[in-house]
Amino acid sequence: MGKDGYSLVVVANRLPVDMSVGEDGTVEWRRSPGGLVTALEPVMQESDGAWVGWSGAPDLVAEPFDADDIRLVPVTLSETEIARYYEGFSNDTLWPLYHDVIAPPAFHRQWWDTYRRVNQRFAEAAAAQAAEGAIVWVQDYQLQLVPKMLRDLRPDLRIGFFNHIPFPPLEIFQQLPWRKQVIEGLLGADLIGFQRGGDASNFIRAVRRLTDLTTRGQIITVEGDDGKPGRHVRAAPFPISIDSKKFDALARTPEIQARAREIRADLGDPDIMMLGVDRLDYTKGIRHRIKAYGELLQDGRLDAARSTLVQVASPSRENVGAYQELREHVEGLVGRINGEYGEIGHSAIHYLHHSYPPEEMAALYLAADVMLVTSLRDGMNLVAKEYVAARSDDAGVLVLSEFTGAADELVGAVLVNPHDIDGTKDAIARAAVMDPREQRKRMRRLRRRVLTDDVAKWSASFLGVLSAMPSRTHHV
Ligand code: G6P
Repeated sequence: MGKDGYSLVVVANRLPVDMSVGEDGTVEWRRSPGGLVTALEPVMQESDGAWVGWSGAPDLVAEPFDADDIRLVPVTLSETEIARYYEGFSNDTLWPLYHDVIAPPAFHRQWWDTYRRVNQRFAEAAAAQAAEGAIVWVQDYQLQLVPKMLRDLRPDLRIGFFNHIPFPPLEIFQQLPWRKQVIEGLLGADLIGFQRGGDASNFIRAVRRLTDLTTRGQIITVEGDDGKPGRHVRAAPFPISIDSKKFDALARTPEIQARAREIRADLGDPDIMMLGVDRLDYTKGIRHRIKAYGELLQDGRLDAARSTLVQVASPSRENVGAYQELREHVEGLVGRINGEYGEIGHSAIHYLHHSYPPEEMAALYLAADVMLVTSLRDGMNLVAKEYVAARSDDAGVLVLSEFTGAADELVGAVLVNPHDIDGTKDAIARAAVMDPREQRKRMRRLRRRVLTDDVAKWSASFLGVLSAMPSRTHHV
């Protein structure tokens, strides 16, 4: 670090590690899973960077420390703050609201107050780490007020914000009682990135309807206070990706290839292995997928004795009611289908409520003939990209929901509307018997895209645009 602070500060709800306190009181950490970490870790390791975030545990007070060449700055959250800011406002208000109200969002003033207070704490922690004129890159819906709070504290900074999840249409967004404060919070940034062009336009439309500001294309002009010059904010799409080459290389290793064969053998060498990999989240369309699969078995279009679906559903947000209900539903559905179509030594569905390391994921992707990504709404969906990156054999079929950001980019996937169960069944049935030549043609096209547009390109392009924006240092 420079003597007066870090030149690149990432601010995200989570630190890229889980911290816990051992029996003797020492703080221990281990890497935590998640798309965001995968996406940003390589960038952070290359720059003189600090990462401000929450440890994942309640009331954990810890000094900044270094891990894998990244300076980590823990923000403390109390149990009540976790309940109101994280489980409440972030994951029971904003998450369902921004994902097309698939589940009903709850609006509670107490949750909003805590969201504001916690955002202020993140802003202060970031302000304390950033060098004069540094770049601060704020991540995701949990921290939408940080850009403005940070600008008020440190007008010298260049501030970027990236929204990893969808930005909803105005007609949905305007349900939020604090919609104006959220827009103003985001407009504290110089550059606001979204996954898709449609998300950026939704945001710009919300700015036009909910504020008096003028917009022109991607540019929003924010007036300065007390006769100070105004400034321009840009809102634009920057579709996120994965570390494709690293994942490709991992899936090529003999150990992973052997593990993929072992998985298929353990499953009884089925003719068709299908795979779903998701956080156990109602946005992912897991129930729609399992329903479609179950009906294909029932109709005899898939042979129950020769097909299997492996569904990895990693535990997520288990204190939020909608997630508890989803788990009940999914597990009930899996139980019914397995009861109906299972045999001794063969299950129709292998349901795994765990998360796995990348090595095991790569082996699962390699083993799977058909990958099912059927989200009802999804900012990007990095699982789809990981599947493609793993398939250097140019085999396998990606069935992909139209409602993912990935669908805008991944030409070559079999697109589905997961609400249309008959259409989804047809797509799955088609994928199951797809000719290897067509698989190869599609997979090559997908791979060219995923291997070219990787996460390094994503972050370089966002940071490139942000750095090229006029410096604020002399304006204030
Ligand atoms: C999504 C969000 C991330 C979040 C991740 C895991 O990908 O965009 O911000 O970190 O889900 O969810 P969690 O609530 O466990 O952090």
